[in-house]
Amino acid sequence: MKQSAVYPGTFDPITLGHVDVVNRGLKLFDHVVIGVAENPNKEPMFDLEARLRMVSQTFQDESRVEVVAFSGLLVELAQTQKAEAILRGLRAASDFEYEFQMATMNRRLDEKIETAFVMAREDYTFVSSRFIREISSMGGDVSALVPESVIPYLEGSK
Ligand code: PNS
Repeated sequence: MKQSAVYPGTFDPITLGHVDVVNRGLKLFDHVVIGVAENPNKEPMFDLEARLRMVSQTFQDESRVEVVAFSGLLVELAQTQKAEAILRGLRAASDFEYEFQMATMNRRLDEKIETAFVMAREDYTFVSSRFIREISSMGGDVSALVPESVIPYLEGSK
């Protein structure tokens, strides 16, 4: 039977750290559904459409990756996608507390859905969407840390 995972996030914007997590997920699962969260309370820099386009373009040549938007509960996305697991990346111990709470809460909501963690490559442990937004808005070069599809959006030409 094919095994699928949903990989949720705000992706504001997607980084090479996220790409690394998806590629690791593809070693464990047949199919990875990237769930781009609307997340209005986070007041994202990029609207949902732009975030979806950046993620879709990044994985346009990977047939085992699908990109969808979602606005409700993550476990409901996993249920509608018939996914066995939620995929998340860990960069450092500091990520653990939040991830542990989220995984435990999601398990309470649906105990059939497992959360699988993969560790991002060392080169990306310091990369976060927040730093990308900050550095880029101050004129810094982040081109080595994001997929190519993100550059025009950061430059404001899209
Ligand atoms: O990339 P992020 O911002 O860390 O991703 C956060 C995300 C999208 C995984 C989280 O906000 C989420 O799961 N939102 C959906 C709402 C939900 O299910 N909340 C309960 C989780 S315990």
